[in-house]
Amino acid sequence: MTKLSLARLTGSCTLLIVLLAACSHEDPNSPVYKRKQVFKEMLRTSQSMRDMLKGAKAWDAQAFRSNADKLQQLAQQPWPLFVPPDQNDHSKTDAKASIWSHPQDFHAAQDKLLDNVTRLKDVAATGDADKIRPQFSAMEDSCSACHKAFREF
Ligand code: HEC
Repeated sequence: MTKLSLARLTGSCTLLIVLLAACSHEDPNSPVYKRKQVFKEMLRTSQSMRDMLKGAKAWDAQAFRSNADKLQQLAQQPWPLFVPPDQNDHSKTDAKASIWSHPQDFHAAQDKLLDNVTRLKDVAATGDADKIRPQFSAMEDSCSACHKAFREF
């Protein structure tokens, strides 16, 4: 192998390493990364509420209410982070292009979740699990309805 081709090979390997690093390390400041963090926290919060409603975790009306408050805060946060896709952002995303081609529908799906979370918060104030359960399912339905339309699986 000549010196020149060895240098070329080393050069392309360096490039490959840089590319691989870009793929595996998501930029924590990117909007994609940030919105996924919010969604994960939404899931953790709603899972803990579901466990209580199902009896997998002891019923604690106060904890349920504070989770409902938290969910209401979280349910407002991902949307401004849906900025049009950026070529320089290599974070892995499951966002469908329809988010940007059908902004009104995407917005309506956000409102539906917010409505349901507000209702959940209201009924959570009763502390009565039997009354809360149907509203909790309605809230979860609005998560999956949006995922069906706007998230790749
Ligand atoms: C208005 C639409 C919409 C609603 C409502 C919605 N999501 Fe999502 N969700 C998305 C989209 C779009 C993505 C894909 C984000 C990405 O990969 O960039 C996503 C991704 C996620 C993810 C995966 C995050 C990751 O690490 O890749 C979780 C978990 C999640 N959502 C949970 C929830 C929960 C729980 C709710 C309801 C409490 C909910 N979502 C409501 C649109 C929505």
